[in-house]
Amino acid sequence: MIEQKDIKKVLLSEEEIKDIVKRLGKQITEDYKGKNLLVVSVLKGSIMFMADLMREIKIHCKIDFMAVSSYGAGTQTSGSVKIIKDLSIDLKGYDILIVEDILDSGVTLSNLKKMLELREPKSVKICTFLDKPERRKADITADYTGAQVPDEFVVGYGLDYDEKYRNLSYVGVLSPEVYGG
Ligand code: IMP
Ligand code: MG
Repeated sequence: MIEQKDIKKVLLSEEEIKDIVKRLGKQITEDYKGKNLLVVSVLKGSIMFMADLMREIKIHCKIDFMAVSSYGAGTQTSGSVKIIKDLSIDLKGYDILIVEDILDSGVTLSNLKKMLELREPKSVKICTFLDKPERRKADITADYTGAQVPDEFVVGYGLDYDEKYRNLSYVGVLSPEVYGG
């Protein structure tokens, strides 16, 4: 069982998440009218957000999935991400919306965005569920942000600690005891 004491506090309840996703879906629906939208979910953290968000997008869109991993801090200057699973659609002619769970240092997303731009889509924008602006290292901002969170480790609604807690339907701050803090 997931113990209640594992979560220090709830940051976003199910209801609050619903409102956030509705707002973003409405905005994306407006902004992408007449465009050729391809929504790209970055695995695995964005799956719940993706599943809810796409239901709030009321125009035609296609979806695809991608899995990447950032190189460690020591090799950050290489400025690249490793592709674990690539897209199956040729991006030419599409307006790409990258859907991420959280924008933290920004290293992953800034590199991913550059990489996708090289494939010559019409446009590339970013929609992140959460944003931790205090931690930013890369020069990147999201075009759509669900909520800003403080510099604490958060889990739930797709976000994990050691691959766990993704299945919580809310977002909470992980208790430091869980990771030996
Ligand atoms: P960054 O923006 O390149 O630093 O990395 C973002 C990735 O780190 C996200 O896609 C998450 O997988 C992970 N991450 C960053 N902060 C958290 C957090 O508070 N909880 C869970 N995962 C996080
Ligand atoms: Mg992730």
